[in-house]
Amino acid sequence: MRLEVSGIFKTYDGKVPALIDVSFSLEENGIFSLIGENGAGKTTLVRILSTQLLPTSGTATIDGVDVVSLPKKIRERIAAVPQEARAVPWMTPIQTITSYLMYRGYNHAEAMEMATDTIRKLGMEAFEHQKNRKLSGGQKRKVLVATVLASEADIIFLDEPSTGLDYISRKDLWNLFSSIKDRKSIILTTHYLEEAEALASRIGILNKGYLVGFGTMEDLRNLSKYPYSIRVSSPDFELEGDSWKVVHLAEGGTQIFTYEDQVYNLVSILISRGLRFTVQEISLNTIFENIIYGGTRDDKTSQ
Ligand SMILES: Nc1ncnc2c1ncn2[C@@H]1O[C@H](COP(=O)(O)OP(=O)(O)OP(=O)(O)O)[C@@H](O)[C@H]1O
Ligand SMILES: [Mg+2]
Repeated sequence: MRLEVSGIFKTYDGKVPALIDVSFSLEENGIFSLIGENGAGKTTLVRILSTQLLPTSGTATIDGVDVVSLPKKIRERIAAVPQEARAVPWMTPIQTITSYLMYRGYNHAEAMEMATDTIRKLGMEAFEHQKNRKLSGGQKRKVLVATVLASEADIIFLDEPSTGLDYISRKDLWNLFSSIKDRKSIILTTHYLEEAEALASRIGILNKGYLVGFGTMEDLRNLSKYPYSIRVSSPDFELEGDSWKVVHLAEGGTQIFTYEDQVYNLVSILISRGLRFTVQEISLNTIFENIIYGGTRDDKTSQ
């Protein structure tokens, strides 16, 4: 899939803009994840790209097809679960998925087979024949996610698919994403930054309507002043210097953030002092905090 987003602005009812000059392009299958605080503009962007909402200005194309002027053509290729979607209460999960697939043009036998397969992969057998209205919040969410994942749409939009899911269900979902990501494009919003880091080949960071970061984990790491982190078990480690930042962690131990070319120096010092440590590239959580807070929150940065 080739996705080109160019100068998108969106203002609801003339209020504060929800998206401000958002531009990026992607040219590959796989998972693209949008992250950002509540109200950052993630849902607004997903709704525009999946033809549910018109931008105030700007353009977006999927494989060269404009999402504003040719929405029908886009809709043939996409499947989407909106953030606030609800499964029809008086249908069962298997009926929900099967009827959606039949609506998309599969015959009953094909639809049943695809639905059953997805239900198995997402570990939903225990409640596949119960009415949706009797399911828990997380189970209902799973029904919707399973519905679009079962479809053979090659572009899938999922707005917070894992919110409200328990740990095992989230793992099942991640495995399913991983198994289909070579064949499909998945555009996913999430508040679980570990999820974006583990699954997405590209990540976009929205902050108050601006796209403030975009690219691979490596691209995003390079936006941070200190892309490396050394965790020292000693709680009272101190080291003067301009090429790193030393943070004492509330949970115990010390974290040193630094540049790649200083890692060797620091490691040598730590070894000579007989201290135990681990060296890592910074996580998406740290990158996100650095970007959102401008890398200035000296006392709050964590791995
Ligand atoms: N239908 C609407 N009418 C008016 N303002 C809206 C509407 N939908 C969203 N907004 C505003 O647009 C901004 C972006 O909202 P959006 O839902 O895109 O954020 P989000 O990143 O998806 O947040 P969350 O993580 O809470 O889902 C917010 O300021 C929000 O109040
Ligand atoms: Mg949202």
